[in-house]
Amino acid sequence: MGEVKIEKMNRQEMDLAVEWARQEGWNPGVNDAECFYNTDPTGFYTAKIRNRIVGTISIVKYSSDYAFVGFIIVHPEFRRRGIGSIMQRFCETSCRNLNAGLDGVLQMQASYERYGFKFAHKNYRFTGKIRGKKSSLCVPVSRKDFEEVVTFDSKYFSTPRPKFLKCWLFQENAKSFIIRKKASRKICGYGLIRKCFNGHKIGPLFAETQDVAKTILDSLASSVPNEEIFLDVPEPNKTGIALAKSYGMETVFATARMYTNQQFELPIKGIYGITTFELG
Ligand SMILES: CC(C)(COP(=O)(O)OP(=O)(O)OC[C@H]1O[C@@H](n2cnc3c(N)ncnc32)[C@H](O)[C@@H]1OP(=O)(O)O)[C@@H](O)C(=O)NCCC(=O)NCCS
Repeated sequence: MGEVKIEKMNRQEMDLAVEWARQEGWNPGVNDAECFYNTDPTGFYTAKIRNRIVGTISIVKYSSDYAFVGFIIVHPEFRRRGIGSIMQRFCETSCRNLNAGLDGVLQMQASYERYGFKFAHKNYRFTGKIRGKKSSLCVPVSRKDFEEVVTFDSKYFSTPRPKFLKCWLFQENAKSFIIRKKASRKICGYGLIRKCFNGHKIGPLFAETQDVAKTILDSLASSVPNEEIFLDVPEPNKTGIALAKSYGMETVFATARMYTNQQFELPIKGIYGITTFELG
């Protein structure tokens, strides 16, 4: 088969990784390559045999102690020959001194367990067409809200992620809304919808109450009438699952969220939509 070499991915190769993700049916967003790569340009890798790309993996380091693993793909012609295992061993070594998370397809859960990942919970991908309604409570996220959004977001994500959000919140072909509390004017929820290869995905959708989540979801959906919408909800958030079902959305896919070290004490009841399965 030839020697498998793991190399850092360049920005151009990142487009190929996203294309492979599209071919796997993961339906990435049209700006994902740019926003993902900018978050940690040193965190994306190819597996090559004689200079041909045969596999991809990302290990995006948000901080010195937290990373998220994604894009674990081997080209169909090269599967079942141990390349996935080589990439997993590389990942295990890279993540030795930190906590790493991933959203694994369910059939690979047992394999990831052998490389030190422990199951935390399932996530369900819902899809459907939603007749939304824009609420006057929802205000587009502006650059002056940025610091506040980063702080609010960090309550629901494992670590602050300003680098990621700088690109994510202000990407083209996307809409984001925040809702503030009446009295204190503090943010009590925010969400973003982005154009994907097929339809649109909502993520993140973080909110203190179901009412706030629903109001934001309605407003986001109203920006893409009659189009397919995808929403990834963690199974332990029963209110979130109920909200998705109340729109007639149906599950099409599930992942196992896993971590190498401790599971974060996140307020999962406020996570109505996971940002992405690739970067957490
Ligand atoms: C998953 C994938 C990366 C594995 O790559 P690969 O090179 O075929 O894997 P390997 O031959 O090195 O096998 C690696 C391990 O995965 C297991 N495995 C591989 N394909 C599998 C499958 N379809 N179902 C269950 N287990 C599988 C192997 O048994 C092996 O387990 P072990 O480490 O406990 O021995 C590859 O099949 C792929 O790209 N699939 C499509 C994309 C995908 O689903 N990626 C995973 C996202 S979380």
